[in-house]
Amino acid sequence: MTQKKLKINYEVWSERLTKIYGKGKEELEAVSKIDLRVEPGIHGFLGPNGAGKTTTYNMLVGAISITEGEAKIRELKAGSVAAKQLIGFLPQDPVFYEDMTGEGYLIYMGQLGGLQAKEARRKAQELLDYFDLFDAREREIGKYSGGMKQKIGIAAALIHEPKVLILDEPTANLDPLGRVDVIQKIKELSDKVSVFVSSHILSEIEQMCEDVTMINHGKIVVSDSIKKIKKSFVSNLYILDTDMNEKFLEILKNKDFISKARIEEIDGKIHIIPKDPAKLQKIIPEMLIENKATLLSFHQPELSLQDIFMEIMSKKEDDEK
Ligand SMILES: Nc1ncnc2c1ncn2[C@@H]1O[C@H](COP(=O)(O)OP(=O)(O)OP(=O)(O)O)[C@@H](O)[C@H]1O
Ligand SMILES: [Mg+2]
Repeated sequence: MTQKKLKINYEVWSERLTKIYGKGKEELEAVSKIDLRVEPGIHGFLGPNGAGKTTTYNMLVGAISITEGEAKIRELKAGSVAAKQLIGFLPQDPVFYEDMTGEGYLIYMGQLGGLQAKEARRKAQELLDYFDLFDAREREIGKYSGGMKQKIGIAAALIHEPKVLILDEPTANLDPLGRVDVIQKIKELSDKVSVFVSSHILSEIEQMCEDVTMINHGKIVVSDSIKKIKKSFVSNLYILDTDMNEKFLEILKNKDFISKARIEEIDGKIHIIPKDPAKLQKIIPEMLIENKATLLSFHQPELSLQDIFMEIMSKKEDDEK
């Protein structure tokens, strides 16, 4: 009997996915050999301006061609009719038919997605209600506010009941309340549909997602659960504050179980990266007693995704120099 291979069916999967724009001198590799692994739930897609997020999304939804590599949506080849059927897509700059009413637009999109007129109308009304747009259903989209447009865009992406929702910066241009509202809706939706969402606002991604992929210059810099990413970054740094930091720094610097120790200018505290954390934890109380020093604090800082993102990005820039 052949052994059955354990295989995860990813919502979005790619192998060496690459996009090159232009030719010759104009050639630009916007996305470079990326391997995406998006599991059910909400997966964040991060990266600075020009990193290649929108380009990646456009390849996944079949809006532009793939130069090299391959991509799949739930096992179906990205760009195929069957794969498109599985996807709901909110583009970064959605183009609306501004003189259509909200309801008319959703019905139209529903029919484009393969629904019968009656079913499209029913779904449209359900979504208008869900996104608090029911009272505005007969107004032209051109007269909607930014937040209303964003919500009608997400509603339109949902009308054919997709399995995978791809949202390119759904909270861009929204005020704080509008953001909270859209984030809440995305979280609720993730019970029924997998979400692959990009945003520049890392605190938002942190609120919404379990897993993230960060890209920079078209390449993946890290892809993992936020929990694991945070753990791998936090585990190494310890911050010690006493009433004699200078002296303690001198002592610690000479220990073989310390990799790095310095006094951080901003807070005046000792930032320590130990080779052996257990030894560090043991020596601190001994040092305090021996020197009759007062301990003000000793802890491992919890880094925000923003801190980690900045650190990863700056490290990469340094490496590339
Ligand atoms: N149609 C195009 N033709 C040529 N180059 C393009 C095209 N679209 C994007 N690019 C380039 O590809 C790179 C990636 O752009 P992309 O829009 O994918 O980035 P992004 O991560 O979505 O950025 P942002 O956060 O600003 O939306 C950029 O250098 C951009 O100038
Ligand atoms: Mg973009």
